[in-house]
This record gives sequence, structure tokens and C-alpha cells, in this order.
Amino acid sequence: MTLAVGPQVRGRGWGSRLLERLHDHARDSGAGAMMLEVRADNPAARHLYAAAGYEQVGLRRGYYRSADGGSAVDALVLRKELSLP
Ligand SMILES: CC(C)(COP(=O)(O)OP(=O)(O)OC[C@H]1O[C@@H](n2cnc3c(N)ncnc32)[C@H](O)[C@@H]1OP(=O)(O)O)[C@@H](O)C(=O)NCCC(=O)NCCS
Repeated sequence: MTLAVGPQVRGRGWGSRLLERLHDHARDSGAGAMMLEVRADNPAARHLYAAAGYEQVGLRRGYYRSADGGSAVDALVLRKELSLP
């Protein structure tokens, strides 16, 4: 449900490799596309997904609500077509 890399080893390509393994697994399971949501205020994740070929196909306004009642953050809905092997 959540893709994450330890803070001490971020920026070394692990996120990209994890994502590619997920794509391989999804392809092997017969999926034709991947969809996900990402916080609009998460530049690292947005860059990761854009670099992997995801495109924005929707917007969920105020999707992420903070537990302390602070302001809500939009979710971008992203999609990537999985090319056949
Ligand atoms: C998002 C996350 C998984 C990226 O993992 P990572 O191992 O650091 O990513 P990579 O090193 O593979 O980098 C992938 C791309 O994102 C870019 N990127 C990484 N961190 C970035 C940052 N802080 N700001 C901008 N771009 C960033 C890299 O430059 C790379 O782009 P490139 O292919 O054009 O060079 C990691 O930052 C993380 O675990 N964040 C907290 C959890 C989270 O937000 N998960 C996503 C939930 S939707």
C-alpha cells in the first residue's frame, strides 16, 4: 500500500528499483496498467513516479486529512500503462 525507502538510503535508486519490481510482478499477474495516489505536497514521490512514466489522470481534493485537524492535502491520481514483455 505504501512504497518507502529508509531515510538514510534515499536518493540511491532503491525507490526506482522497488517500483520496477512492482511493475514486473503486476505484468506477470496479467495487469495492463498501474494506478496510485500520491500527495500533491510530496515532490520526491511525484518525481519518482513521473520518472517511471506515470501520468496524472485525476485529482482527489482534500483526500489526505491530518489527524490534528490541520489543512487537507490533495491526492493526484496517477496511471501508467504496462508494456507487454
Ligand atoms: C519517494 C521515495 C520512495 C523515493 O525513494 P528513493 O530511493 O529516494 O528514490 P530514487 O533514488 O529511486 O529516485 C527516484 C527519482 O526521484 C528523484 N527524487 C528522489 N528524491 C527526491 C527529492 N527529495 N526531490 C526531488 N526528486 C527526488 C530522483 O532524482 C530520481 O529521479 P531521476 O530518475 O529523474 O533521477 C522516498 O523518498 C520515500 O520513501 N519517501 C517517504 C515515503 C513516501 O513518500 N512514499 C511514497 C508514497 S506515495
